[in-house]
Amino acid sequence: MLTFEYDEALPPLQRLVRLSNRSQWTVEAIDWARPLPDRPGPYERVLEWHGIWRSDYIRRLPRAKQEALARQMVAMEFSQVLHGEQAAMMLAGQLTSSVDDLDARVFAAHQAQDEARHVMAIRSLVQRIGPIYPCGPVLGQNLSQLLTSPIWPKQVLGLQLFLEARALLSFREHLLFVRDDVFRDVITKIERDEAHHVAFGVQYLRRGIEGLTPAELDDVGRYAAWLDSNLWSMTQKEEYRQAFDEVDLDYDACFAQLQWSLGGELAMATRKSVTRMHTQFGRWFERMLVKVGLPAAVSPRREPTDDDDAGGSDDALPWLTIAENAEGAQESS
Ligand SMILES: [Fe+2]
Ligand SMILES: [Fe+2]
Repeated sequence: MLTFEYDEALPPLQRLVRLSNRSQWTVEAIDWARPLPDRPGPYERVLEWHGIWRSDYIRRLPRAKQEALARQMVAMEFSQVLHGEQAAMMLAGQLTSSVDDLDARVFAAHQAQDEARHVMAIRSLVQRIGPIYPCGPVLGQNLSQLLTSPIWPKQVLGLQLFLEARALLSFREHLLFVRDDVFRDVITKIERDEAHHVAFGVQYLRRGIEGLTPAELDDVGRYAAWLDSNLWSMTQKEEYRQAFDEVDLDYDACFAQLQWSLGGELAMATRKSVTRMHTQFGRWFERMLVKVGLPAAVSPRREPTDDDDAGGSDDALPWLTIAENAEGAQESS
């Protein structure tokens, strides 16, 4: 239904639209022809991050084979990102007609365009290093649930507050380990867009939550609790088997005597920063649930840990703050 409330303004959303306009980029402007460096392998450190470097089977492989496996693991993970980007494009399109405020409709239209660009860029990024892998079952179920939900606050919760913020964490982590200039270039550009999308969710979702019926609120609350307990389960360990198969390696031999543990073989400083990022994300997500007006009962605070020192009390994730500051500087110039 059309809105004729052209005078009602939401300044925070108008600011995000301005920032988004100023940071537009194109897939064609990326120099895709830059070759992957030969040595050291640009993706090999991903094996350390995933902890599978501790497997004797992996350690005994020729270095080129280790690099090949690392590339397939990233291709598998970024195939999931690609499926998520396609869903984000469709959800943002739906949002243009399911929200009532004109500024929110305009922002959603901008986001749909951003996501279309992300779909094309991530597709090219994955195809540089491997095939496009199928969508994992947990992620697939979550995306279909969002695409068919008639409750837009549930869609914004699932997309802007969870999937996009979670993707930003994954991007930051990959940037710690991948030394491929094209990858870094694309991911850094997408990060900036995603920071705007997450900010939209944080700033607009409360209006939607306040307008829900008790039954809808119950549905969204249960979904929030499910997300909160599945922050790290969107991709299952078994899904990596396809990456091993792609380069004729034996997944079972790798894991026979190996407990899967992210960051199991990292230098202490790197391990600390990965652990801290995870803790910060978990705490940020729980704070955001409360901030947007979901019942506090669905978001029990995690017990503080030794790695929690950088948790802070503000709303921004550190890697979001960087993007926002960069944009703010641009805006005031
Ligand atoms: Fe995106
Ligand atoms: Fe996005």
